[in-house]
Amino acid sequence: MCGIVGYVGNKQVVPVLLDGLRKLEYRGYDSAGIAVVDEHHNLKIRRAEGKLRNLEEAIRLQPIDGTYGIGHTRWATHGRPTEENAHPHRDCTGRVVVVHNGIIENYLQLKEQLRRSDHRFVTETDTEVIAHLIEEKLRRTDSLEKAVRESVKELRGIFALSIISSDEPDTIIAVRQGPPVVIGLGDGEHFVASDIPPILQHTRDVFFLGDGEIAVLTRDAVRVTDFDGNPVRPVHQRITWDPIMAEKGGFKHFMLKEIYEQPRAVRDTVQGRISLDTGRVYLDPMNITEGEFRRFDRVMIAACGTSWHAGLAGKYMIEQLARVPVEVDYSSEFRYRNPVLDERTLLIVISQSGETADTIAALREAKERDARVLAICNVQGSMITREADGTILTHAGPEIGVASTKAFTAQMVALYLFALYLGQLRGIISSDEARRHAQQLAELPVKIEHLLSDTDRVEELAKEFFRATDFLYLGRGINFPIALEGALKLKEISYIHAEGYPAGEMKHGPNALIDERLPVVVINTREQGNRASELRYEKTHSNIVEVKAREGIVISVLTEGDEMSSKVSDHVIEIPAASDLLSPILAIIPLQLLAYHIAVRRGCDVDQPRNLAKSVTVE
Ligand code: F6R
Repeated sequence: MCGIVGYVGNKQVVPVLLDGLRKLEYRGYDSAGIAVVDEHHNLKIRRAEGKLRNLEEAIRLQPIDGTYGIGHTRWATHGRPTEENAHPHRDCTGRVVVVHNGIIENYLQLKEQLRRSDHRFVTETDTEVIAHLIEEKLRRTDSLEKAVRESVKELRGIFALSIISSDEPDTIIAVRQGPPVVIGLGDGEHFVASDIPPILQHTRDVFFLGDGEIAVLTRDAVRVTDFDGNPVRPVHQRITWDPIMAEKGGFKHFMLKEIYEQPRAVRDTVQGRISLDTGRVYLDPMNITEGEFRRFDRVMIAACGTSWHAGLAGKYMIEQLARVPVEVDYSSEFRYRNPVLDERTLLIVISQSGETADTIAALREAKERDARVLAICNVQGSMITREADGTILTHAGPEIGVASTKAFTAQMVALYLFALYLGQLRGIISSDEARRHAQQLAELPVKIEHLLSDTDRVEELAKEFFRATDFLYLGRGINFPIALEGALKLKEISYIHAEGYPAGEMKHGPNALIDERLPVVVINTREQGNRASELRYEKTHSNIVEVKAREGIVISVLTEGDEMSSKVSDHVIEIPAASDLLSPILAIIPLQLLAYHIAVRRGCDVDQPRNLAKSVTVE
């Protein structure tokens, strides 16, 4: 949600900033802008409403260049998505320029105070206030760093900032209080960005700024301090991803590429974490001991959107394999219900980005109430990984498409590993069983590859149904979260109204929706020989028959070789056989593809759906 980028060095600054913004556009695409300063201290700004290509066009018509600069791509919070409200914002003297990701809660009070000192505001944004506040401080000091330090202490809310001034040549100041800020360390050049991809083609040596820290970047050095000015020694990391992982690599969209990356994402998430010989699970070192894991008498899960759906699937896995009761909350609801937590509660927070404000709030709430927090997260160094007591990293690699795909399957794999870990620690799973689970996990990537090797059926269905106005998705047990996720994928990228429902709930109301125009996607997989699975299968089969009796169009996702539900369904998508707890990881893949192909046929912007942004850093 909003991307910031900055560069100081010897390269031409405008292409570096524009290229960086292109790689951050998934974070917001309501407007974009850059500010650069040339060797004569002339500060120039170009901004444009809408997507980055509009800014590129504005710069083509009125070129600018400089030796250092900052840029921004916006997802509007305060102020409409107009050019006027686009970042960068400047103070009234035009010397100080700021780009911002986050929200300043007290901006109206600050605006009032600053107005009394003759500051005049031209936008509706909270960010403009920051530029004015810094300028106000600069009236009493000639050090930009000092002015920034004094200003940030007056800001309430969350903010990642990059600031330049035409009076302080070749210097960028970066600040973090909440949203991520990555600093890239080059040779005679330095970068700042909201995420790693814009930096990656220039350098792999980076560090994440910590909360409450300020970095001063010049060509030759980066100096980090806390808000009080005490020096901080940052922990450098070398990024091992291939820069190509953050590119489309020949696919038409990031989403499609990411769907096809799922065998690798699953393999990388499992790799090194479970022994095929003993079935033992190895988690990364963390501040939660084995003794504590044994003593937890309750697990709670908090997450948003797709990650919440993974959490729902995780409930089935953990309750089944470790026999601990699990509650799953939307992060945005968690703290508004005065949750009952204590030191025997484990809260699992699940987040692809590690930045989602509601999930961070849930994490903090739990810690305040003495619960321990385990994160399942895809971004090392993100806020959630920093604040949790332990993390299981999903190794899905950078996810750029706004609709989450590979992160979801990797999250379910991580939850499965955790359920096995807890089950073994608590003596629920024998080593024979653990070995069997390890084997099944190891086979999963090949099954996904098999699924992805022939997608003609899904493409045909997309062709047949892309004009539908509503869809229903049904599933029972662990397939219910997959119904929810299938529906979410469709609605967010194709703008078709879709609902996910527990199959058994249909007769309590939603049956009234069924008619001959309604496509109903039913996930009804089956594990032969598993009594609970067979029972669920039979009950869901009856639901299919009920939909058919009301003339609904049934598209069933079934296990290969299915002979019962396939006969009563209008259309069938087959997935490879897998255990009951792992088959959802396969079942979601054709549903991701169905949503994708329908959205493409409807001419939708698959990677950047309207009104959405990749990481939601406001509550
Ligand atoms: C949907 C989607 C969102 C995210 C949600 C949480 O495709 O991507 O629903 O799952 O915004 O984001 P994270 O996982 O980053 O906390």
